[in-house]
Amino acid sequence: MSKLKTAFFCQQCGHESTKWLGRCPSCGSWNTFVEEVQEKKGTAVRDNWKPASSGNQKFVSLQEISAQEEDRWITPDAELNRVLGGGIVPGSLVLVAGEPGIGKSTLFLQDALQLPAVRTLYVSGEESEQQIKMRADRIGLQHENFYLLTETDTQTIFQEIKKLRPQLVVIDSIQTLRTPFVESAPGSVSQIRECTAELQRFAKATRTPVFLIGHITKEGSIAGPKILEHMVDTVLQFEGDQHYIYRMLRTVKNRFGSTAELGIYEMKENGLRPVANPSELLISEKEEPLSGIAIAATLEGLRPMLIETQALVTPSVYGTPQRTVNGFDLRRLQLLLAVLEKRGGFQFGLKDVFLNIAGGLRVEDPAIDLAIITTLLSSYEDVPVPHNYCFAGEVGLSGEIRAVNRIGQRIAEAGKLGFEKIFVSRFSRKALDPAKFNIEVVMVARVEELYRQLF
Ligand code: TYD
Ligand code: MG
Repeated sequence: MSKLKTAFFCQQCGHESTKWLGRCPSCGSWNTFVEEVQEKKGTAVRDNWKPASSGNQKFVSLQEISAQEEDRWITPDAELNRVLGGGIVPGSLVLVAGEPGIGKSTLFLQDALQLPAVRTLYVSGEESEQQIKMRADRIGLQHENFYLLTETDTQTIFQEIKKLRPQLVVIDSIQTLRTPFVESAPGSVSQIRECTAELQRFAKATRTPVFLIGHITKEGSIAGPKILEHMVDTVLQFEGDQHYIYRMLRTVKNRFGSTAELGIYEMKENGLRPVANPSELLISEKEEPLSGIAIAATLEGLRPMLIETQALVTPSVYGTPQRTVNGFDLRRLQLLLAVLEKRGGFQFGLKDVFLNIAGGLRVEDPAIDLAIITTLLSSYEDVPVPHNYCFAGEVGLSGEIRAVNRIGQRIAEAGKLGFEKIFVSRFSRKALDPAKFNIEVVMVARVEELYRQLF
């Protein structure tokens, strides 16, 4: 009798080894190796969704392919279209990862129910038919082209697919699936890898888009193997703070579009509402201007967004001053404080500094620097900044204010939202014609100059 083929896999990153290891040489985590059976003996016919006789020609002419490319499906969910790079690509395999409870099942149930013309199969390994029906009732949508299957065995799923011939498949979640060709438990590296590979072959051969819902671990990485990310065409990360109602769908990888895109939703009683104009939500209404608040004209992907930044600068009680950030990089804050200290002579070394980006958003755009500097100075001096001013610029180490990309788009958005003044880098001058905008554009070259203009 032949022995089963086994191997050890790091459950964190998917690294494969012939023997057990204490520490993973690839990702460095400890005690993550688990022995898994790779292949079952007497492997039967795989991919039984295939038509019985598919001929034996495997090659295709390139010209033939390009003739039928790029017919994306534009869904009613504009945010989903945006993060996918302009709609669903037939035959694409999309992984949507997020923490439990963030709203992944809600989003894909809702989006599938908004496509009455598309025959959809929603495969759930986590919830019962009744639970899904209840959720659909809560969202208040239904159509007769939407089919449910509560099943975890891939071969049974393919049999049902063969009968139904769906045009769209949603798998909730990839961690619950198991294929009979691999012996280890659902959720293990070899199971996830093999199930994904089966679904990938199905998606490509039948040109059916497949959405895989995946859980992420406490550390924030996609549970199970990193290799999953390499196998799929698109990776979307669904994130948000449980304490806020906003949810963000971020493109992490996309073979069919840009990776800088962001979709924003609001979690309501009856499902997720796409937010078309995030700036309106991210700026709070105030009766009178308060110190320590400044608005940044940022860009997430190609989308301009105005975000409120808040700071609180107070005298430090203890020896070491505290720096606390929410939604911003701590080291970046320390750097900006050092610039203010050195170039402007402000004594932040004696102060505690708390910094907050509104709505629990995490912003990576360097153009937010100018608003951060302003909000820090505003709280330091306890002088409010007029609430109809906004800022877009990167701050350099010598206190210079640098130009940022797509400045025209940022200014136009600020003008559209009724701001009166926008502060930008003087080095943006070449890129713009201030007369063109219905907002006053103030150009500054250095931090000191900004200070003189405002305080
Ligand atoms: P769910 O889609 O089950 O999350 P996931 O699949 O990512 O684990 O959504 C979970 C949360 O969303 C749950 O706490 C309830 C909330 N929710 C609403 O607030 N409104 C709704 O209409 C629905 C369906 C869910
Ligand atoms: Mg779910």
